[in-house]
Amino acid sequence: MIDYNQIEIEHSVHLFNKRDLVLVSGKNAKVWDVDGREYIDCTTGQGVASLGHSNPAVVKAIREQAGKLITCSGSFSNDKRALFMQKLIDITPDNLTQVFLCNSGAESVEAALKFARFSTKKTGFICAMRNFHGRTFGALSATFTPAYKKDFEPVVPGFQFVPYNDFEKLKSQVSDDTAAILLEAVQGEGGVNLGQKEYFQQVRRLCDEKNILLIIDEVQTGFCRTGRMFAFEHFDIQPDMICLAKAMAGGVPMGAVVCSDKIKMKPGKHGTTFGGNPLACAAGLAAIEFMQKENIESQSEKKGKYILGKLSQIKSNRIREIRQIGLMIGIELKEKVQPFIAALQKEGVLAIPAGPTVLRLLPPLTISYEELDFVLDKVQQVLGK
Ligand SMILES: Cc1ncc(COP(=O)(O)O)c(C=O)c1O
Repeated sequence: MIDYNQIEIEHSVHLFNKRDLVLVSGKNAKVWDVDGREYIDCTTGQGVASLGHSNPAVVKAIREQAGKLITCSGSFSNDKRALFMQKLIDITPDNLTQVFLCNSGAESVEAALKFARFSTKKTGFICAMRNFHGRTFGALSATFTPAYKKDFEPVVPGFQFVPYNDFEKLKSQVSDDTAAILLEAVQGEGGVNLGQKEYFQQVRRLCDEKNILLIIDEVQTGFCRTGRMFAFEHFDIQPDMICLAKAMAGGVPMGAVVCSDKIKMKPGKHGTTFGGNPLACAAGLAAIEFMQKENIESQSEKKGKYILGKLSQIKSNRIREIRQIGLMIGIELKEKVQPFIAALQKEGVLAIPAGPTVLRLLPPLTISYEELDFVLDKVQQVLGK
């Protein structure tokens, strides 16, 4: 029998610690390995398969579009891209009127940073400690964690870091050269740290007073993950740009920046070959229509509350704190999380860490209550030991 795991280990640039599991198929919340073993997937490819694996509406759209037109440069218009852009404008606040389509979260952050510098003619950015915005040079420069940047310096200059949810500290760093403030509404990779409404409202007011752009990175939180279409909706604010990716096209690689008319770009100042290709746009359109038709926002909110209720009853002195918003769940432990992730995998549940001590669950928003109960039983079993 072919050892796919070994082949990948041998031939990959060594960047991932492999989990010794070869996944070959998936359906909604379930995935199967090469030996036919079933798992409930609470990783969803780092929050991508929010509508479940191989969501039938998305699959249908991809199949149809693949037979029609897969690629179409931004120099031409395209029916699916036009409809998809219209959809993004419809589901975002009224002040957001322009869309840039790309292929990943880091690319969306890169674009937003360039748009901010070009449109404001200022160079500085203020970002939060314990954030994560991606691995490319601009996005990496906006990311705090020194371990990610060490060995790749010099990174792009102009980034300052302040504690998350501390308005006075942020305000003290603002200067005449601050182009934008870039924040996640919930810090996903940093440990599922929830943003506070009052903080975000204060930041919004400060940006208005000082003519600074507010960029919200919704790459992980967007598209109903937190019980709202976008997490900033919990704060009653309107950002100047939002960065999107992960769940936006039902699993097909895609990213976007949705911008207000404060962003004024010119042809040639940024670009992409694959961004906005009709295949991804068709998938994205089907994904958002599915979210709207199935009221995925409210499913996410209700299931999140259900999980929190059950998790709160778990008796385990290993747990320091549980943080939850919609179906974004972080269980902070008093010890390293990795052995518990491995134990859950043995029990048929795939979970991911968020930093060294946080067990993160990002199940599909379409997961059934029965499957949630299975996951919760296993979490109880593993943490209770
Ligand atoms: C908030 C946030 N921004 C940006 C990124 C980078 O996205 P990508 O891995 O698609 O480049 C991530 C990835 O985890 C993320 O969580």
